[in-house]
Amino acid sequence: MVVRQIRTIGDPVLKSKCQPVQEIDESLERLIDNMAETMYDAPGVGLAAPQIGVNKQVIVYDVGEGLQVILNPEIINRGPEEESAEGCLSVPGHERIVKRAGWIRVRGLDRRGEKIEKEFTGFPARVLQHEIDHLQGRLIVDRGRPVPQKEMEN
Ligand code: NI
Repeated sequence: MVVRQIRTIGDPVLKSKCQPVQEIDESLERLIDNMAETMYDAPGVGLAAPQIGVNKQVIVYDVGEGLQVILNPEIINRGPEEESAEGCLSVPGHERIVKRAGWIRVRGLDRRGEKIEKEFTGFPARVLQHEIDHLQGRLIVDRGRPVPQKEMEN
């Protein structure tokens, strides 16, 4: 088991735009395994490659259906936005209210390099948008607003 250190806000890798995956090879397999193990160890529901210092378009997530992987994810359709509180393993101890589309359609590749297209609604849609933001160098602090004290007490 390889748990990698999660990069936190201030690390320049979190600000970089990630490169698309070109080749499915052993080093990619290893990256995916390391990301999954790091995510489950945290624990978190999603992780993007830059969070362990790798500038590649790879995300892993688990919203209750086991480990999922998307390479080179792209949002091709989206529904109206909803606001909700969100945290990030790279911004420890902070929550922000972030507007996200209530549903999205995502295109990308699975870990074998096969084309996939999936629709996500509600919480899973939020997780995917959050992780895809990471691949573009965007953190919740770039998008959200602070959680008002009153809402935090609820
Ligand atoms: Ni995050």
